[in-house]
Amino acid sequence: MRGGRGETRVTQQQDAQSAVAAGRPKVVLGVSGGIAAYKACELARRLTESGHDVRAVPTDSALQFVGAATWSALTGHPVATEVWESVHEVPHVRIGQSADLVVIAPATADLLAKAAHGLADDLLTNTLLTARCPVVFAPAMHTEMWEHPATQENVATLRRRGALVIEPAVGRLTGKDTGKGRLPDPDAIFDVCRRALLRGAAGAGADLSGRHVVVSAGGTREPLDPVRFLGNRSSGKQGYALARTAAARGARVTLVSANSALPDPAGVDVVRVGSALELREAVTKAAADADAVVMAAAVADFRPAAYATGKIKKKDDQEPEPLALVRNPDILAEISANRSGSGQVVAGFAAETDDVLAHGRAKLAAKGCDLLVVNEVGESKTFGSEENEAVVLAADGSETPVPYGPKEALAETVWDLIAERLPELQGLEGLRGLPGD
Ligand code: CTP
Repeated sequence: MRGGRGETRVTQQQDAQSAVAAGRPKVVLGVSGGIAAYKACELARRLTESGHDVRAVPTDSALQFVGAATWSALTGHPVATEVWESVHEVPHVRIGQSADLVVIAPATADLLAKAAHGLADDLLTNTLLTARCPVVFAPAMHTEMWEHPATQENVATLRRRGALVIEPAVGRLTGKDTGKGRLPDPDAIFDVCRRALLRGAAGAGADLSGRHVVVSAGGTREPLDPVRFLGNRSSGKQGYALARTAAARGARVTLVSANSALPDPAGVDVVRVGSALELREAVTKAAADADAVVMAAAVADFRPAAYATGKIKKKDDQEPEPLALVRNPDILAEISANRSGSGQVVAGFAAETDDVLAHGRAKLAAKGCDLLVVNEVGESKTFGSEENEAVVLAADGSETPVPYGPKEALAETVWDLIAERLPELQGLEGLRGLPGD
């Protein structure tokens, strides 16, 4: 049985869920004091235009960059920054309690530090302490500040508690310097917010928070000479969807991307590779402390036996030499074999053109992984498309069909099946999920 306070919180949670269901979720846009505050105007616009009820809560220093009039005009609400304004409405508690999502953009190093330590000296930090909904931080600061161990520890603390901290983008900073620390694109932040809201509304919260997951994506290229390679048609879209959805569920994500042209997903560490051997090195390294590994990349089974350091020239009146190939290592089988006793969950994909399920079952056994997503590929099927249809086979004999739909939906099912199989996190009881979980 819940006590009175618990009941109030459950009611607020139900209210929040119905607001999301009714299509007008309440979003608190917290803005801390950095030059990137001007970009948060675009985020406010994206959120309001797509039907969210947005309350801007800028800090005093944020108002040095963008004034209250701008926030008020963009959100259609008066802007409060002080806990002492409208005290009868108890804003320092009410704004956070009634939110479906809090997003802080930009989040300065100072704001991250306060949030990690539970300080509450203004309206925004009070709001963070009272919010029981998903919280997204989009940090922006100079590279040195982002890389400082104090900031990194604060970010790790927030992520462990279930907050979504988006990785800053790399590029031009305030002055002439360039590096990691730019506020990610407002569209990317918007995308993360939308997903966090959907998961929050489903009551699922950030169920992968505190986890490190590794996803491989794209297709390997096996070089013949400096200008030619053997490759395949994989676009990387399914792997990128897996990376994005895992990040939205709170995981720390390493995406090992083989030759994909897709932009880096927000909040994800991307390692770019070319060949199967490079992919193997990157995945093996990242898998060392991973809770789950998903091999969505199309890895070439063979590579040219020799690499010509100069461009291979045709010779007049001569047929070309036959191409000698050697086998590449089977990365999925290696990762599966090397994780004994670690509790790591390993999943692979099987691209088949015929007799799809029979080949899938044989492959699951041969690779020794926990899950195998079996899908049919062909000239116009799956490669490069936005949609996918699959059956997820599990080593315990279960089969989960996923109907034709967005690659994101298949990705969510894969993470559901992985989350069920992950061992309990140690020492984080009570820190994860929403109240009432
Ligand atoms: N895979 C891998 N290393 C390889 C080949 C494939 O890790 N050298 C992984 C893929 O990332 C995928 C799974 O194994 O998760 C199955 O890939 P697929 O190409 O369908 O199977 P293959 O093992 O290559 O078997 P075949 O081509 O004979 O069907």
